[in-house]
Amino acid sequence: MKAGIESISFYAPHYFVDLRTLARRRGADPDKFLKGLGQEKMGVPPPDEDIVTMGANAARQALTGVDPATIDTLLFATESGIDQSKAAGIYVHHLLGLPSRCKAYELKQACCSSTAGVLAALALVRQEPHKRALVVASDVARYGLGTPGEPTQGAGAVALVISATPKLVALDIEHGSYTEDVMDFWRPNYREEALVDGKYSIKVYLRALSEAWRDYVRQTGRRFEDHARFCYHLPFTRMAEKAHLHLAKLTGHGEEPYETLMAQIESSLRYNRVVGNSYTASLYIGLASLLEGERDLDGQRLGIFSYGSGCMAAYLSGVVQKGYTAHLHADHHKRMLDERVELSFEEYAALYEHHLPTDGSAYETARHETGFFRLAGLNEHKRIYEKIERADSEPAHAEAERKAIAGHLA
Ligand code: HMG
Repeated sequence: MKAGIESISFYAPHYFVDLRTLARRRGADPDKFLKGLGQEKMGVPPPDEDIVTMGANAARQALTGVDPATIDTLLFATESGIDQSKAAGIYVHHLLGLPSRCKAYELKQACCSSTAGVLAALALVRQEPHKRALVVASDVARYGLGTPGEPTQGAGAVALVISATPKLVALDIEHGSYTEDVMDFWRPNYREEALVDGKYSIKVYLRALSEAWRDYVRQTGRRFEDHARFCYHLPFTRMAEKAHLHLAKLTGHGEEPYETLMAQIESSLRYNRVVGNSYTASLYIGLASLLEGERDLDGQRLGIFSYGSGCMAAYLSGVVQKGYTAHLHADHHKRMLDERVELSFEEYAALYEHHLPTDGSAYETARHETGFFRLAGLNEHKRIYEKIERADSEPAHAEAERKAIAGHLA
């Protein structure tokens, strides 16, 4: 039986920093970020936005036209958790008005937990085809200011409706996987910024790709040439180039023209290049970028590589469904990205340094542009979320935002 992705949508914060601006302030050649890392902009969330509001925004759009009563489970993947006990998905469940019989829980294994969610969702709908699962992946990628990781920051969320009526991509349950205990990237509970052994993390990513691919071949018997397009986890888009050349070499395709190989990944990089790393969401924002960037993928097989530091990796595959272009949210994504507001370096630094209180006091967050949901504040260590009543087409209020950002600089 078929099962897979019925709908996919992502959300990116309304603010971004141009990496040319960052390069100037860090005394780096802008081409190091633009060409060396393949990144142009990075998303920056304001204080009234977090993994819950970003995830709810992505899921609200992905659920357009889907009967919420059919959602059996909400699987929330993140490595920017806001509570050690309560799942962020419970807040999203409430904000979206999902039925009380819909379960909601959180998954963690760095960037790969979104794929753990997709695999669990596939197993669920294959067992009970009348049910749907909603996978939400949402993260804020934060490294220390001035560290090599800084230009690979970003934020965003993606939501996938997984069902037995996959209008976009039918995913195979057979997949390759690889797990190894390594310290390439991690974030102890007491830290807001990730720690990373950057160069080592790239090596481990490539090793995990080789091993997950080998396992995938053992499970499926497929070859490199059975796949028309490839999607990779995207900490920065140049990583996909490294990964794809690595896989081509491993499978005896290393001598193929560079342009031919790059054409197999290029469409998957457009969104991530201007959103930055969104950890668990990155791979699937890349998948949305691919599907929305090419109109003639009917019946084509995709290779999908998921990597999560620490580490766990999975190699998945699926076939793009006939007529998929009618079920995408490309216009919504284009408008969201077009309406974003560029921050100066000082504005970025002020938002980065802003911290929510941890003493339990009552606190109201400044109002920024955050889509249909916002973190209104905190009281007695409890997060208070609110829905924003607005028409889908209502544009962002640039003037009010400037004032809100100025407030952080004061
Ligand atoms: P770095 O040391 O600042 O950069 O850190 P570099 O010196 O290696 O330069 C980067 C590239 O730019 C190099 O290209 C340079 O040659 C080139 P490469 O050798 O790789 O081909 N370059 C230039 N190109 C054009 N013009 C110039 C120029 N100058 C230099 N003028 C690093 C880079 C990625 C290590 C750093 O940003 C970092 O630590 N980032 C965070 C870690 C990361 O993203 N790791 C990726 C794999 S792990 C992963 O994907 C998991 C993750 O998403 C987390 C999770 O799973 O939860 C991170």
